[in-house]
Amino acid sequence: MNLNKVFEPINIGKVVVPNRIVLAPMDTNLASDDGFVTEKLIEHYRKRASGGIGLITVEITSINPMREMKPTNNLSAFDDKFVPGLFKLARAIREEGAVASLQLGDFLHAINKKPADLSVLEIEEIINEFVSAAVRVKEAGFDIVDYHMAHRYTIADFLSKYANKREDSYGKNLYGRTKFAETIVRETKKRLGEDFPIVCRINGDEFMVGGNTIIDSTYISKNLVRAGADAIHVSAGGRIELGGSRSYSSYRQVPTSEMADGLNVHLAEQIKKKVKNVPIITVGKISNPGLIEEIVNEGKADMVAIGRAALADADFVNKMKEKRPFRRCIFKNDCIRLYLKNEPVKCVTYDS
Ligand SMILES: Cc1cc2nc3c(=O)[nH]c(=O)nc-3n(C[C@H](O)[C@H](O)[C@H](O)COP(=O)(O)O)c2cc1C
Ligand code: SF4
Repeated sequence: MNLNKVFEPINIGKVVVPNRIVLAPMDTNLASDDGFVTEKLIEHYRKRASGGIGLITVEITSINPMREMKPTNNLSAFDDKFVPGLFKLARAIREEGAVASLQLGDFLHAINKKPADLSVLEIEEIINEFVSAAVRVKEAGFDIVDYHMAHRYTIADFLSKYANKREDSYGKNLYGRTKFAETIVRETKKRLGEDFPIVCRINGDEFMVGGNTIIDSTYISKNLVRAGADAIHVSAGGRIELGGSRSYSSYRQVPTSEMADGLNVHLAEQIKKKVKNVPIITVGKISNPGLIEEIVNEGKADMVAIGRAALADADFVNKMKEKRPFRRCIFKNDCIRLYLKNEPVKCVTYDS
């Protein structure tokens, strides 16, 4: 009997993913200055799709040019003019046999605002921007839309006990803090149809004093699924308010060589115990084939996302399947230093 489930297909809603490995969304700085898909961007994702990853999540994509994390090169979906380029990108990923997902995100910090600074009208406008961008994602031929609800992005700020100090129905308590995210999911389903899958990427724990814990994220996951989410992707950390980019929370988002392998798996595992019916995805310093097999085969998570392991070796999954040697990520984060300098992202250790 074959007990290895890693290379068995799995459904996200009605979409069949050929195996259990997900490319974690990673901003590449390969979009053009004004946010269009480029040939280099297409090649980057084509290589990872042909490298055997079942579900490719394309990097964070902008829903509004005023609220982006970086000054330039933000892949964009805030206007119909971006659809033809996105179409070519989705087609390249699908041609290689992978399922194509695209992450939509918004960064309120770009305009120095917090959830409590927004009027209800402004909140509704952001909800509309998310849903309109999701319509373009579907039009462009992607199979799935992924909502960035983790780290320090706008939806995460609404979900966060630390960041959301609103006193109205969009805040106040866990129920209120979840309303913004839930509304985006519900409205997306109304516009795109029940069958178009939504993956929600959340923080399993914010890893900061006063921030969300697994208790909050379990509740959030349950409610997102009730609203229509078809999978929950459990990331962690990424909040820099207490201690800046060297805070523990920040490192927890992109764990370094000093930290344990698979350090976030227990968060997905706990959510999976309480949230049935949809796949739960884990992420964070996973580059060891044995660990991937253990996670999936022992049911700690349904799917495993890899980020830097797939930067270090685009063929990681094929090589894992064929038990061939691969270029192992050393988690020293030199790729992130390129990202922070707004340069094209690549694996510095092996590709320079
Ligand atoms: C260069 C780089 C860019 C990233 N960009 C994004 C992003 O666009 N959206 C997102 O949700 N996470 C982003 N992340 C976080 C990754 O998706 C992932 O959660 C993190 O790298 C941990 O996984 P890993 O240990 O397998 O690399 C990025 C990480 C890196 C290294
Ligand atoms: S630069 Fe370092 S951390 Fe980044 S992918 Fe390469 S080996 Fe991994």
